[in-house]
Amino acid sequence: METNLNNRLVHFLSQRTAQDNLRSLKINQGLIDFSSNDYLGFSRSAWIYQHINEDIKQYQHLSKGATGSRLLNGQTQQTDDLENQIAAFHNGETAILFNSGFDANMGLISTLAQKGDLIIYDELIHASMHAGIKLSKASSLSFKHNDLDDLKTKIPTDFGGQIFVLVESIYSMEGDFSPLKELCLFCEEKNIYLILDEAHALGILGKKGRGMANVEGVEDKIFARVYTFGKALGAHGAAVVGSRILKDYLINFCKPFIYSTALDLHSILSIKWGYKFLLNNENQLIKLNKLNNYLNERIITNPAPFKMVGQGPIFGIYCATNQKAKNISRHLISKGIDIRAILYPTVPLGLERLRFIIHSFNTKEEIDFLLDELNIQSKLYN
Ligand SMILES: Cc1ncc(COP(=O)(O)O)c(C=O)c1O
Repeated sequence: METNLNNRLVHFLSQRTAQDNLRSLKINQGLIDFSSNDYLGFSRSAWIYQHINEDIKQYQHLSKGATGSRLLNGQTQQTDDLENQIAAFHNGETAILFNSGFDANMGLISTLAQKGDLIIYDELIHASMHAGIKLSKASSLSFKHNDLDDLKTKIPTDFGGQIFVLVESIYSMEGDFSPLKELCLFCEEKNIYLILDEAHALGILGKKGRGMANVEGVEDKIFARVYTFGKALGAHGAAVVGSRILKDYLINFCKPFIYSTALDLHSILSIKWGYKFLLNNENQLIKLNKLNNYLNERIITNPAPFKMVGQGPIFGIYCATNQKAKNISRHLISKGIDIRAILYPTVPLGLERLRFIIHSFNTKEEIDFLLDELNIQSKLYN
């Protein structure tokens, strides 16, 4: 039996090798970071580090580990305070913490949508939302990326169940922005529940980085918003922001919330001070926006010989095949630039790409170097 299972695993791995998309874990250290989601450099912030450590000293008497799920021993004053802080920052009624963005999306969607409901999702939503859809008993269909007209054609008339629409603020692979305001107006008019994943917009868009719902003034129109802390906040975990009823419902029915050990004290404090840094310090965001403008100007004055997508800070360069994306990324890494190939099946076949991210701590010289190298490489591999 063991041997048969091994054969099956080897078969799937060989398929990946044949398609040139076998994944493996690599450490790339000491390179120019054009790859991580640490948009504002918070994961390396001395200010955040120092404040976490001061709190840790003050809380020496507390357990470092959560020691249980939130419904058991994992419920602490620090967790409660953090949820209130997050809800206040995002102008929401409540916030509820999850151990990761993946857990939050998967738990929220699978718990909310029931048999007889319909989930309509942007075709480019994150894998964690797909996991939620799959686990839910609702039916589902996709609409074309960022295409409100296409979405309208998917809404059934006289539908008995609830309808949910799932979108992201800034798409993680395309780096483009959702037409959120129009979506909100439409969903409100049709009594559709909008779920917004703000993973890549937290810290980047809105007043003090409050996200896209804040920029568009629609925070109160969205049924549930998901904020993840592994990106601009430089930490780990996530929160769902929504109504008191939604929070009570998730506490009672959401399995990834109920049956998992809560975040440890250090994670709670990292998120707390990440949010405080957003409130106290806009310098990183200003620097990032300047670099974003610089990059856009350079592309306008010196058009790149490849198809580039993204509005910043996430950009993608289509490479047409896994092989090409991998070769260019390998070359760039050999030049000291950390930029990763994103392969099928993470992105659709034929849309394999290089994904790069600019950060507040990058420099204009690094951006010049990156663009110059990309130009050279694209000539080699076109
Ligand atoms: C859009 C989006 N949502 C959710 C997640 C999952 O978040 P986490 O890394 O906290 O599990 C990611 C992570 O890549 C993401 O890009």
